[in-house]
Amino acid sequence: MKGVILAGGLGSRLRPLTLVTNKHLLPVYDQPMIHFPIQCLLNAGIKDILIVTGGDHAGDFLRLLRNGKHLGLRHLEFAYQEGEGGIADALRLAEDFADRGKICVVLGDNIIEGNIRKASGDYFTQPTGAKVLLKKVPDPERFGVARFEGAPGQGRIAEIIEKPAKAPSDYAVTGIYFYDDAVFDMCNSLKPSDRGELEITDVNNFYLERGDLSYEILDGWWTDAGTIESLHRASNLVANGGANHLSLPAKPATAGARA
Ligand code: G1P
Repeated sequence: MKGVILAGGLGSRLRPLTLVTNKHLLPVYDQPMIHFPIQCLLNAGIKDILIVTGGDHAGDFLRLLRNGKHLGLRHLEFAYQEGEGGIADALRLAEDFADRGKICVVLGDNIIEGNIRKASGDYFTQPTGAKVLLKKVPDPERFGVARFEGAPGQGRIAEIIEKPAKAPSDYAVTGIYFYDDAVFDMCNSLKPSDRGELEITDVNNFYLERGDLSYEILDGWWTDAGTIESLHRASNLVANGGANHLSLPAKPATAGARA
């Protein structure tokens, strides 16, 4: 399975920090943010990765990541998203890379403590469809939220609601998704939402309507890092240990660097 990291956007909620580089290159404690989704995929054995980025600082990724070999990647590719079309718009750029195979998609500002290896293995044996990972949170209104048939966190998901005014459960849909090849037709058929974006929640609801969306509950902590508050929280969580990413070299060697 291949991996896709969505790392575009203008990071306007993190200005002025994002006036000088891409949001996903800002530090989360001792590492650039993008190292965490890369390590998340590596932990699941996924070494072929496409990073979709955009904005004014896309070139900064190359200076950090180069060809990704020093991080343990087999293949690293980049795509450039024009404008601010949303997550599902960015995902459209991954169609050629996916080459009709299954993919794991990670939002570049999502950081987890645990490991998606089991979920990845489970999805690999799922014949078709998609899988989302859920996490119980204190502030579900900030996210896509699952409404369940029956008890929250159990049974079938009836619907996913993007940033509901009143959340139907405490279970947020994290930014880690597994998709089959049908995802690209779905992305191409979407209409922009009220915020003018193609919503990944609409894609997940398409799969739900087809009865082809599974879910698992993520172990360990999960956070996004797209606001000053959540970036600060992410840094504290990483600093306090338990994160999943320690096999990445903290200080990758650069050509001509002195010890
Ligand atoms: C996006 C998704 C949302 C999901 C969240 C996870 O929100 O739209 O469904 O719960 O990522 O980080 P956004 O970051 O665009 O506000």
